[in-house]
Amino acid sequence: MIIEKANRLNKVDEYYFSTKLKQIKALNEGGKNILNIGIGNPDLPPHANVLNKLCEVATSPQVHGYQSYRGTDELRCSINNYYQKHYNIPLLDSEILPLIGSKEGIMHITQAFINEGDTVLIPNPGYPTYKSVSKLAGAKVLEYKLSEKNNYQIDLEALKQLPLDEVKLIWVNYPNMPTGADADLENLKQLINLAKKHSFLIINDNPYSRILTKKVFSIFQIDGAKEVALELNSLSKSHNMAGWRIGWLCGDEKYVDTVLNIRSNVDSGMFYALQKAATEALNLDYTWFKQQDKVYSRRKELVHDLFSLLNCTYNKNQVGLFVWAKIPDSVDSVDDLVDDLILSAEVFITPGKIFGSEGERYLRASLCTKEETLKKVIQRIKKHIIKL
Ligand SMILES: Cc1ncc(COP(=O)(O)O)c(C=O)c1O
Repeated sequence: MIIEKANRLNKVDEYYFSTKLKQIKALNEGGKNILNIGIGNPDLPPHANVLNKLCEVATSPQVHGYQSYRGTDELRCSINNYYQKHYNIPLLDSEILPLIGSKEGIMHITQAFINEGDTVLIPNPGYPTYKSVSKLAGAKVLEYKLSEKNNYQIDLEALKQLPLDEVKLIWVNYPNMPTGADADLENLKQLINLAKKHSFLIINDNPYSRILTKKVFSIFQIDGAKEVALELNSLSKSHNMAGWRIGWLCGDEKYVDTVLNIRSNVDSGMFYALQKAATEALNLDYTWFKQQDKVYSRRKELVHDLFSLLNCTYNKNQVGLFVWAKIPDSVDSVDDLVDDLILSAEVFITPGKIFGSEGERYLRASLCTKEETLKKVIQRIKKHIIKL
């Protein structure tokens, strides 16, 4: 006997990394030693103050109960101060909703605003969760293309050709993953005007704003954005706390409360000690980000070297945690290239096509890899090229 899965699961595939990591694990168990530079999972630890705060608070006997769905007053206050200090954005307490990670937030927002048959616009290439979560909600998913010739900014003229009156929500993600493009305020200002004209909601997914960026971006730096936009953010990448699952949503109270309506039916708040430690992280000063960027800049140069070895081309000014590189025309199949690198060079680099058809001719390498490992990767690729 088999109990059938729900029909909605026929609309999505298993997450690419979930299957690829199984394959890599099996190969490693069979004797290979594959170096994985594909995944954006920060390898550096959180700040010592953050770790100490977690340990100190977690050992107290009174902190183990359920917590408020809105997070502690202290956490919301520290998110508020963080936005004011680093993004130059004043928020009201009622405009902040702590969440268990921004990935979970993508699901909450979709559940809160999308009815079956509603149209959702997603970027191609883009973070795969926007599409899968929209499909799970029964949405009609339309893609807007981001292309290198446009520096991966939204092509507003092409967007206007889409049935914008039918669109309920658009996902944008600046600084952008996977392409490393930074935000263009003018472009997004025009998007906000379109959203007002056609009545759709913009969600800026913003987990990379603190990594290798010259200016810290928030969609709320654009006048009037709060009327039609929300922003997700998290401590996963900026504070090396991906496994802790701490994020937040901010925006106009009426939208935030709509998401709270879903969220309060799904989880039961966040562990108090995590919220105290998150507060500590949010209070860190600029030196934390400077130190992080120093490490990532050195790694980025090594990743540039390895992509040059593969004759890939890339923009050196990319921001965020990855390098996005175009494969040379001489390579026929990116799948063959990725598999060849896994099997012969024992290196895994993410194929850009998992982010959408526009990523077909690209690779994405992560900066979450130690310099020694990146140097090893370069050696292996050099050897691999000589063998070809
Ligand atoms: C664009 C983008 N959005 C959201 C997330 C999810 O991050 P979080 O750990 O905050 O859930 C990721 C993680 O890789 C991401 O790349």
